[in-house]
Amino acid sequence: MKQFLMHFSPRLYGFLRWTILWLKFGYAGRALNIARSINGFLTDQEALTLYKLTNRYLPIESPVVVEIGSWQGKSAVMLGAGLRNKHTPQLYCIDPFNGDGDSYSKNIYSNTLQDLNSSLLDIFLNNIKAAGLMPFTTPCPGYGYEWGERLSMPINLVFIDGNHEYSAVLADYELWEPKLVPGGIIAFHDVRGGHPGPQRVFEEKIRHPKWKDIRFSDSLAFAKKVE
Ligand SMILES: C[S@@+](CC[C@H](N)C(=O)[O-])C[C@H]1O[C@@H](n2cnc3c(N)ncnc32)[C@H](O)[C@@H]1O
Repeated sequence: MKQFLMHFSPRLYGFLRWTILWLKFGYAGRALNIARSINGFLTDQEALTLYKLTNRYLPIESPVVVEIGSWQGKSAVMLGAGLRNKHTPQLYCIDPFNGDGDSYSKNIYSNTLQDLNSSLLDIFLNNIKAAGLMPFTTPCPGYGYEWGERLSMPINLVFIDGNHEYSAVLADYELWEPKLVPGGIIAFHDVRGGHPGPQRVFEEKIRHPKWKDIRFSDSLAFAKKVE
């Protein structure tokens, strides 16, 4: 049935898929439908968890979210969608937008980049625009360590998903953790599934009395900074 609809009536198929997601997950389902169309590395479960983290656990007034590693905007769309009903939210997305990274990932990125007709930054911006998140999303082209000084405000949530080498993940943690407010949330992608860098930083730094409410969602892990 699914194959039949996809083939003979893709618009009806798209509409039904959107409706089912909307009925099942509400606004998060709408965001998930957009996120599914964006190239990236999140499972549906992880995407929905990112939405939940910003939507349920951040304050209503002026929450600040920083993402390290945005690629084409899949995770940014979910983080941003969760902020939509807050007052003056801010989402900062740091990425060199050039496919740089650890040696394992760089090969995967370059295969994808070869097939793109626009720049990575343009694709990211189009995806953010399509999701209606432009008013409070700031793309930050460059590396996490280049933005540390410029983004000096207190942060409510930091999502670390950039270079996956141990030293790079550790540097991201050391740079951004002090900016996180008490009660703020830190999240890492790829703490499971054969990525030793994020996994080791998570084990060494987050399994510590400084952090509570440690949770996992597929290979995403997050924790709350003790107040
Ligand atoms: C795994 S992808 C991010 C995927 C994205 N979070 C998503 O779920 O759609 C990692 C991204 O981080 C970028 N990157 C690599 N090193 C970085 C660094 N030091 N700071 C920020 N971004 C970095 C890569 O170029 C790539 O675009």
